Amino acid sequence: MGERRTILVAGATGKVGREVVAGLLAAGAGVRALVRDPDHANLPEGVLAVRGDLGNPESLTGAVAGVDGVFLLWPSFDPQGAPAAVDALTAGGAHVVYLSAMNVRDDQEASRNGVWGAVERLVEGSGSTWTFLRAGGFATNTLEWAEQIRTTGTVRWVYGDAARSLIHERDIAAVAVRALTGDGHAGRKYVLTGPATVTQAEQVRLIGEAVGRPVRWVEIPVEQARRELVAAWGDAGLVDGSLAYWSGLVTEPEPVTGTVQEVTGTPARGFREWAADHRADFDARPVPAARRRRP
Ligand SMILES: NC(=O)c1ccc[n+]([C@@H]2O[C@H](COP(=O)([O-])OP(=O)(O)OC[C@H]3O[C@@H](n4cnc5c(N)ncnc54)[C@H](OP(=O)(O)O)[C@@H]3O)[C@@H](O)[C@H]2O)c1
Repeated sequence: MGERRTILVAGATGKVGREVVAGLLAAGAGVRALVRDPDHANLPEGVLAVRGDLGNPESLTGAVAGVDGVFLLWPSFDPQGAPAAVDALTAGGAHVVYLSAMNVRDDQEASRNGVWGAVERLVEGSGSTWTFLRAGGFATNTLEWAEQIRTTGTVRWVYGDAARSLIHERDIAAVAVRALTGDGHAGRKYVLTGPATVTQAEQVRLIGEAVGRPVRWVEIPVEQARRELVAAWGDAGLVDGSLAYWSGLVTEPEPVTGTVQEVTGTPARGFREWAADHRADFDARPVPAARRRRP
């Protein structure tokens, strides 16, 4: 890094954002965290917490004033409100590193690129420079299983043979930090995955290895999973699309890219390492209150 850059991090209390904050501090950048509730943000020393809400553009203007870069995520499947937020965040010309998704493809109709494609288009049209992190599925998605693993030692779910290239949140953050503090990343669309595909059943076995006791995969009927997901997500179309996607991964595993290593110089972390880093989340022993995640 040349001169010291100051970066505004949206989603700074989230799984990826916390790692971005830590990585920026380690790289010597000035860090401002955009948070809805500074009193409960629990951020490391040296970070300036600025109250703001992505849904309220006026609250973003002061937060972004004078920063060199913005780490942006859009915390909803609905792009409503994103145009005003992107306008406010790019008004000063800061470089935007946007946490997008691998399912955005430039060779398919925009309507199939979901909220991630919509936000990319807004950022592209903003006049700011940008870098898109088109991340594959996060390894943190498997934290959904934590409670059943802690209480039953099993995971009851569908498509145990679906092979995914889940990515460690620290690797997404490492790429984000490079893109926010270094040069040569403007206009790049980085497709980020873990280093290999691992089936869901094998992920569960590796979580068992990390916690030191066997965890079993139990395949359940697709219709049951569908009912549970519709109740949780409230969007049947999204549920059916996701189930169809996972079923396809049984015969055609997700792609694996080497982009994390190309950008950071370090190979992406595998699922075994991720599970070891998150042992406490899956462990049956009571976790001290201070280390428990908020729901
Ligand atoms: N999961 C995947 O497989 C996957 C794959 C590709 C891309 N993505 C994208 O990754 C992002 C999620 O990242 P994550 O897992 O690190 O997030 P997360 O752990 O779910 O945390 C969400 C963060 O967003 C903040 N936030 C929520 N609503 C906000 C608002 N209105 N204004 C300002 N901040 C707000 C939360 O802050 P509070 O403390 O205020 O709640 C929190 O810091 C999403 O945009 C998702 O589409 C996910």
